[in-house]
Amino acid sequence: MTIERFLTGITTSGTPHLGNYVGSIRPSVQASLRPGVQSFYFLADYHALIKIDDPARIQRSTLEIAASWLACGLDPDKVIFYRQSDIPEIPELTWFLSCVLGKGVLNRAHAYKAAVDKNTAAGSDPDSDVSVGLFMYPVLMGADILMFNAHKVPVGRDQVQHIEMARDMAASFNHRYGAHFTAPEAAIEDNVATLPGLDGRKMSKSYDNTIPLFAARAQLQKLIGSIVTDSKAHGEPKNVEGSALFQIYQAFASADEARTLQQAYLDGIAWGDAKQIVFERVDREIAPMRAAYEALLADPARIESILAAGAAKARAIATPFMVQLRHAVGLRDLRAQAAASVKTAKVALPLFKQYREKDGQFYFKLNSADGTLLLQSAAFASPKDAAHSIAALQQQGAAALATLAAQVVLADGVSSAQVDGALQTLREAKAQAKSEKNNT
Ligand code: TRP
Repeated sequence: MTIERFLTGITTSGTPHLGNYVGSIRPSVQASLRPGVQSFYFLADYHALIKIDDPARIQRSTLEIAASWLACGLDPDKVIFYRQSDIPEIPELTWFLSCVLGKGVLNRAHAYKAAVDKNTAAGSDPDSDVSVGLFMYPVLMGADILMFNAHKVPVGRDQVQHIEMARDMAASFNHRYGAHFTAPEAAIEDNVATLPGLDGRKMSKSYDNTIPLFAARAQLQKLIGSIVTDSKAHGEPKNVEGSALFQIYQAFASADEARTLQQAYLDGIAWGDAKQIVFERVDREIAPMRAAYEALLADPARIESILAAGAAKARAIATPFMVQLRHAVGLRDLRAQAAASVKTAKVALPLFKQYREKDGQFYFKLNSADGTLLLQSAAFASPKDAAHSIAALQQQGAAALATLAAQVVLADGVSSAQVDGALQTLREAKAQAKSEKNNT
C-alpha cells in the first residue's frame, strides 16, 4: 500500500478561535492519527508576511498557533510539523516554479483579481497597494505542496483554485524537465462545521466576532454570554433553527446532549441558563487543552526544539529532492559537464559494495571513483539493515554520518567532506540518469 501524503499550511497571521478549532484543528488532528497517511503540518509564516508587516505580531502568532496545534493533540512524532521559513528549499522552489508558470494564470487568481477589481471600482490604479508577494501567493503555496509531493491538500472551497494552480505548475515543470512532481488534489472539507460567531455570521477575524480558542475560563463565559439571541423571555418556547448558540453547542455536544438542549429550548429555557449550559460544555472540552496551551506558551524553547526536529525531518526530504531539481533545470556542478559531453564513454562513479564475511555477517563499503576506500561499515545482522544505512547515506549525504556513527567509520585520512562529495556525485548521476530517461 502506498502511503498517502496530506499537507496543510496554517498562515501565522492571528490567534486561533473556536471556528478554527472546529473547522480545521480538530478534524486535522483526528485525520493525522489515521493509519496509512503521512501528514505534513506547517506554519506558513512566509505567507503571513504578505498580510502583516508587524514583526511582533508575526512572532506572537507563530508561537500561539504552534502551541494551539500541539495542545490540541497534534503529535510531532507521528506527523511532520515544521515552520515554512525553516525550509530554505521552499523559496528556491518558488523561483523554479515562477519560471514555468504563465503570468496570466496569476492574473486570474481570486485574491489578486479581487484587489484589482476593488481598485478599479475606486478609480485607482489597478495594482495600487498590491505587492508582488500577494501576486505570487499561489506560487509560494504551490512550492509548499510540490516540495513534498503531497497527494491531498485539505482546504476550504476558497483555496481550491490554488491547488489547481499547483497542478498547473507541476505539469509545466514536468513537461519541461521530466516527471518530478505529483499532481496534488484538493480534499474539500464540505462536511466540517463552520461555526457562527458572536453576531450569528460565520466566525471570522474579519467580522470581529470570534471567541479565542484559549480565552481564559471567565473570558469564555463572558463571550458565550454575549452571543446574539432573540428577545424571547423565560418560559417562551425557543427555536433551535437559526440559533447561533445552539449551533455552537452542537459542535461540541453529543447527539444526546443536543437533543436535551433542543427539548429545553422548546420548554422555554431562559437564554441565560442556555448560555451557561453551552459555556460549561465548551469549557469541558477546552479546559485540559487550555492548560497544555498555557504550559507551552510559557516554554517557547520547547516549541522551538519541536519545530527544529520537524524541520530536520522535512529537510531530509526537501534537500535531496532539491539536488534532483537543481540538476534537472541545469544548475549543475560544472565538473559534471565534461562527463555529460562524453556521455557515451561510461564515467567512473563512486561505488557502494555490499558483501558477506566469513563470520556470516553483512557489510558494505564506499569506494571513490578511483577505487580508494572512503568508508567501511561495521557488521550488520541482515542485508536489509545494511541497505538501510546505505539508503540513509544516499539520501542525506554526510549528514547521515552523525546518526550512523555506530555503524560506519571513515577510512584513514578520509574527511567527511570527501564522503559528502562522493555521495553528492552519486546523487547527481542518479538525477541525471532520471532526467535523461524522462526526456527520451
Ligand atoms: N493559503 C492557506 C490559507 O490561507 C495557507 C497555506 C499556505 C496552505 N500554504 C499552503 C494551505 C499549502 C495548504 C497547502 O489558509
